[in-house]
Amino acid sequence: MSISLLQGSFIIAGLLFILALAGLSKHETSKRGNVLGAIGMGLALVFTILGTVLGTGSGIWNNAAPKWAIAAILIAMLIGAAFGVFKALRVEMTGMPELIALFHSFVGLTAVLVGWNSYLEPGHADKLHYGELFVGIFIGAVTFTGSIIAYLKLSGKMKSAPLTLPHHNVLNLGALVVFLGLTVWFVLLGPAHHVGGSGAPIGLILISAMTLVSLALGLHLVASIGGGDMPVVVSMLNSYSGWAAAAAGFTLDNDLLIITGALVGSSGAYLSYIMCKAMNRSFISVIAGGFGSDGAVVGEAQDLGEHRETTAVEVADLLKNASSVIITPGYGMAVAQAQGPVADLTSKLRALGVEVRFGIHPVAGRLPGHMNVLLAEAKVPYDIVLEMDEINDDFESTDVVLVIGANDTVNPAALDDPTSPIAGMPVLEVWKANTVVVFKRSMNTGYAGVQNPLFFKDNAVMLFGDAKDRVEDIIKAL
Ligand code: TAP
Repeated sequence: MSISLLQGSFIIAGLLFILALAGLSKHETSKRGNVLGAIGMGLALVFTILGTVLGTGSGIWNNAAPKWAIAAILIAMLIGAAFGVFKALRVEMTGMPELIALFHSFVGLTAVLVGWNSYLEPGHADKLHYGELFVGIFIGAVTFTGSIIAYLKLSGKMKSAPLTLPHHNVLNLGALVVFLGLTVWFVLLGPAHHVGGSGAPIGLILISAMTLVSLALGLHLVASIGGGDMPVVVSMLNSYSGWAAAAAGFTLDNDLLIITGALVGSSGAYLSYIMCKAMNRSFISVIAGGFGSDGAVVGEAQDLGEHRETTAVEVADLLKNASSVIITPGYGMAVAQAQGPVADLTSKLRALGVEVRFGIHPVAGRLPGHMNVLLAEAKVPYDIVLEMDEINDDFESTDVVLVIGANDTVNPAALDDPTSPIAGMPVLEVWKANTVVVFKRSMNTGYAGVQNPLFFKDNAVMLFGDAKDRVEDIIKAL
């Protein structure tokens, strides 16, 4: 196969990835964006394999790969595809963030293996290549262990409270300095340290030490980040995984991997930035692993006074007599799979002449856009689904707010209590409405592990039970 054909296919795949990202930025075009991305990836895979199997007579694609290597590629692809299909078919929408974190860990591990492979290959190269190799292993290793910790925290297999070792900022900074020192040493050593060279033992020690330091840094960075900030961590690891892939692209001389990695890296970084802004968190502080956090320890459910309970029949009465209603869904709506009944309740109330709108917090649920996807799936019209900034001023003039399985995102402590782990995070100011009905199963805390003073306010009532059952009860009572 000619090298121009291969490179041409890479350019088309790169363009399709850019169009995919553009499509994914809006509800209406997101399906098309996904399809374009899948076509781009299919094209990239087919031509990469063809280039490897046939050879192009140029660069790393020079010779056709030996038969055993082709067989190994195909077997690895089969195993990977089977695992991917198995996982994707079984994953619930609520389990997506941890699955994404797990996938990021594979990208990180791959970058580490590519770097090590390049080191162990005899022969070559210039000093720049050694720098690339070290940077690739570093980003890959940080992504690998960081993503595994994110996976464990998100799936509840590990406590989401931040780990606060003494001087944790110094530890992070120290690891970075050690990495830089080892990189300079390794680059200066030059080709002699390659396997078979006179400096090989030192080279091996340097690269091993650097890999261990990077693995420990990734682990510490993410372990230091508390529950409420985890969404930003997932998109940040997404960005890291992109840069890890780009670094592997440099090591392998693969332009498409560089383009794709840079697209993922920069879009992930931008998403992290948007989310930090939405949560009023400092971007630098989050990427530096809880840098500047006061290490507030998340607590148990506390009793902050008396709370009042209500029934579905009472809520139905309240809603019939209301002229404006805002629904603020959260993670609990996803757990209960209540979006269908919530959509039915909405159309029933609208038919009765009640104005119904939705207020969506940017980090409601467990992944960006979680609530929007569920409501779109239940066919709630887009124009009544509003972002937090668009609706926050309207609560004051609203009769009833239905908080359906949301907790941290409607917690007034974020604004009132500077010592709260979610202090400073903008929240939906639901307590300003006439009456707030909170749908949940118990007085337990939400994801960040802090109690919510909203539940004890005079204008708030609790409707306990599974959100789907309770919404269906209200529909019956209507
Ligand atoms: P949470 O604060 O997690 O609260 C969810 C509430 O739903 C809980 O209080 C829970 O109370 C209730 N619930 C659970 N299952 C229920 C069911 N079947 N029926 C009725 N209620 C149920 O949710 P949120 O307000 O959406 O806030 C999201 C949190 O997750 C934030 O802290 C955010 O930082 C974090 N997070 C977000 C993301 C992204 S990107 N969105 C990613 C990772 C983490 P009971 O147990 O008492 O029922």
